[in-house]
Amino acid sequence: MPFLGFWEKLEKPIIGLAPMDGVTDAAFRYMICKYSKPSVVITEFTNVEGLARGNMRGLAAFIYSEIERPIVAQIFGVEPDSYYKAAVMLSSMGFDGIDINMGCPVSKVAAKGSGAALIRTPELAKELVRMTKKGVKDWAEGISLEKAGVHEDMIAVIKTLKSRDGVDAFPGMDLTGQSTRKVIPVSIKTRIGYDTIVAEEWVKHLLEVEPANISMHGRTLKQLYMGLANWEEIAKACKVVKASGLGTTFLGNGDVKSMDDAHEKIKNYGVDGVLIGRSTFGNPYFFAGREPTPKEGLQAAIEHSKYFENLNHIGFQNIKKHLGWYCKGFEGAKELRIKLMQAENAEEVIETIKAIASVS
Ligand SMILES: Cc1cc2nc3c(=O)[nH]c(=O)nc-3n(C[C@H](O)[C@H](O)[C@H](O)COP(=O)(O)O)c2cc1C
Repeated sequence: MPFLGFWEKLEKPIIGLAPMDGVTDAAFRYMICKYSKPSVVITEFTNVEGLARGNMRGLAAFIYSEIERPIVAQIFGVEPDSYYKAAVMLSSMGFDGIDINMGCPVSKVAAKGSGAALIRTPELAKELVRMTKKGVKDWAEGISLEKAGVHEDMIAVIKTLKSRDGVDAFPGMDLTGQSTRKVIPVSIKTRIGYDTIVAEEWVKHLLEVEPANISMHGRTLKQLYMGLANWEEIAKACKVVKASGLGTTFLGNGDVKSMDDAHEKIKNYGVDGVLIGRSTFGNPYFFAGREPTPKEGLQAAIEHSKYFENLNHIGFQNIKKHLGWYCKGFEGAKELRIKLMQAENAEEVIETIKAIASVS
């Protein structure tokens, strides 16, 4: 039977924040979890080969805070050995789970055989899950990062990464492993197919390696984000997972617009829950089932900017899309959006907003 970890303990239905590269960074996840807690959050994906070679850029995606728990780190790539190293490293950093991306359609990912391209190479996909599980198990049984082959520069940096005000970037980290070594669950996020729909056959392959959870976006790789997510296929794949009796949880994903829509889809399609991505843009109150008022939106823009800047490890330009999403629903929103695109730090965001609105 698979090790289900926190997935098994989550209250149903599970309504989680979908991973989104360039969007669900530490600051956005913090805002979401502060104002409306999802059941689970997943980091942006990070390339395992980059991590294995000591590429520090990927580490920023893994910065997290305690209020996000359960927090799952998402990884992608094709080299089994790099998954092993990443699994050991992420276990030591205090994550509640590891998710493997088998759904990304972006050409620079899929062209290398990773992301959704793994749907065409099920044997490799299964090997990646096995190696991730091996890394998780070896960490729980006492292996050191050095012995596991984690890059020495990476070890040095994860030990010391802190925010501007001195808060640890990875608060649950325990590199000695004296207090917290434990097995964490390994899950998969995927799509219903590569160029044709193969959802049922595909999950049968995945079940062979007993993932704790499968999240399925109801589009093929070829569809990218076009058309509508196919929830009938999600429901069929879910049935296969349930029939396996393994206890693997199954989440549907794609085009969920609101909390009411989430509950309706969960009821209609028999899934354990859903992941929600784009509908959360600009709305930290999403999981509480409401939209922010214009004033709350601007307050969120300020708080988000300050938090983001304090993290100190991601360039300020990366917050701009969020600032744009927060400005809506009032006269002058468009002009404000344009001005905010020029802000170079949190102070300038605050000045720009306060010049047009009274927000505290
Ligand atoms: C900007 C953006 C970045 C994304 N990055 C990731 C990612 O890093 N990992 C992943 O598994 N899916 C990623 N996705 C896919 C989403 O997790 C989700 O499957 C997709 O957006 C459909 O859900 P939605 O309709 O609720 O947005 C991304 C989607 C968007 C829009």
